[in-house]
Amino acid sequence: MRRNRKIAAAALAVVVLLGGGFIYWAVTAASNGDANVPTIASTSTPATPTSTPTPTQTPEPTQTAEPTPTETQPPASALNITDPNSVTVLVNKKTPLAPADYAPADLVAMSDIGVPSANGHSLRSEAATAVQTMFAAASAEAGLTLDMTSGYRDYGLQTELYNGYVADLGQEAADLTSARPGYSEHQTGLAADISSQGEGCVLEQCFAATAGGQWLAANAHRFGFILRFPDGATATTGYEFEPWHYRYVGTDTSAAMQAAGVTTYEEFLGAPAAPGY
Ligand code: DAL
Ligand code: ZN
Repeated sequence: MRRNRKIAAAALAVVVLLGGGFIYWAVTAASNGDANVPTIASTSTPATPTSTPTPTQTPEPTQTAEPTPTETQPPASALNITDPNSVTVLVNKKTPLAPADYAPADLVAMSDIGVPSANGHSLRSEAATAVQTMFAAASAEAGLTLDMTSGYRDYGLQTELYNGYVADLGQEAADLTSARPGYSEHQTGLAADISSQGEGCVLEQCFAATAGGQWLAANAHRFGFILRFPDGATATTGYEFEPWHYRYVGTDTSAAMQAAGVTTYEEFLGAPAAPGY
């Protein structure tokens, strides 16, 4: 028993001595830069710090007089669509103006605000200012000279126009292109028939393919206008495609309609379709 203990103690001493010798050798060799001695991987940062990437220069946004819609848009159900003085009034074959001979009180002549209008038309003040801003943007952004070809029409003028269409085309065809008196958005002073000088197609469907027609289709909503009688929507609006007829509803509503991704005002409002009287 005692002998076994002695042997174990001697063995332990040998192990301790050998181990200590190895550690001494390893430390000395490492300090001398011995390549065979494994070293702990360095985690120190490189002498030259990585350069901070320079942010790309973004150009300052161009300042325009364009109106900005408010952050929160009103729900369509909150809009006043019955008062003829409301810019969001709904007028279609199922919803005439009330009273039928309504006339707005704040008309502004295009000639008084420097807006081209071959036929000398006027619009309600808010819509007139919006047209002025929109035409200036069309000029600055696309080199276009737009023209306000038809604006406010009173009950009497709409009667003359409608009767002329009926005489020329018959009532069924006339009803697809002209509103009966008391049923026209033009009588609100908020509708603008727009053409593009030098491009032809005035009040014709080919206007949709002109630079002016395309610019308006893409941009009118920025200024509070909506394309009121879009292509393929006769079953809802009651009228054939009129790529020139824009209706002012204000920027909150035009933006909300754009965001909703719907093409007709009836659909946006959740109002019944108005294909006929
Ligand atoms: N051309 C449109 C429908 C109007 O007469 O009001
Ligand atoms: Zn029109």
